[in-house]
Amino acid sequence: MTIDTATGLEAPAELSSERVRDIFSHIARKYERFNAISSFGAYKLWLAGMMRQAPIEEYHDVLDIAGGTGEVTFTVARTKHPRHIQCTDLVPEMLEVAQMHVDEGDGAGVPIDFEVVDAQDIPYPDASFDAITMAYGIRNMPDRPRALSEMLRVLKPGGSLVCLEFSTPPNRAWRALYRFYLHRFIPFWGDLITGDKEGFVYLTKSIEAFPDQEGLAALMREAGFTDVTWKNYTGGIAAVHVAKKPE
Ligand SMILES: C[S@@+](CC[C@H](N)C(=O)[O-])C[C@H]1O[C@@H](n2cnc3c(N)ncnc32)[C@H](O)[C@@H]1O
Repeated sequence: MTIDTATGLEAPAELSSERVRDIFSHIARKYERFNAISSFGAYKLWLAGMMRQAPIEEYHDVLDIAGGTGEVTFTVARTKHPRHIQCTDLVPEMLEVAQMHVDEGDGAGVPIDFEVVDAQDIPYPDASFDAITMAYGIRNMPDRPRALSEMLRVLKPGGSLVCLEFSTPPNRAWRALYRFYLHRFIPFWGDLITGDKEGFVYLTKSIEAFPDQEGLAALMREAGFTDVTWKNYTGGIAAVHVAKKPE
């Protein structure tokens, strides 16, 4: 079954895929500024947490899914120095910004390649990566079980998926405050910084329609991952899940 990622209800995959292409191709060059401002810098803290949890070694081949403008790829390169990173995304305009950063000297000397890839149909052979990273990707995918199965397939046995995503604060008061921020301020910041208010109304809706921590862990287990754990950040506004492909 495919869903509308803005509501979680059954819908043709094209509805969500076209919307996400439209949003990210238009905001690609303003995306990083929006992240930094709208999260009050928390984005960097969550990324640092993701790196602490990521079992990535220097001899690893890493696949970055929904890599966008390369923020996760470059952070992995700086902090883990793996053998190679394959940075992929559905939207070429996002990867063009990432390539620009490599040309400016980001990448810490780690070999990085870019390719336009839909995570629901990954064009790589079985068991070709030691680790997969994905930040804010799975929420935008209309066929999440298929995307997770594809990630499991291309991981080597014993390899890990490390996933950073918006999640659900367990504390009721904090959750209410966060929801107020999402509705009141995210479309405002989005409009101000990128001129695309609708894209950020979508962001708010997709966050609210997304499964909570246990819901995402269940999807991972259903796809065949084991040892699924997660850690909350900023009271559960974001969470990093780590899941393993069985040996
Ligand atoms: C919010 S951005 C995150 C980018 C980057 N990971 C980061 O942390 O800055 C979400 C990205 O997911 C990508 N995306 C959405 N659906 C996808 C899919 N089916 N396959 C691959 N990438 C996808 C979008 O193009 C966009 O670049």
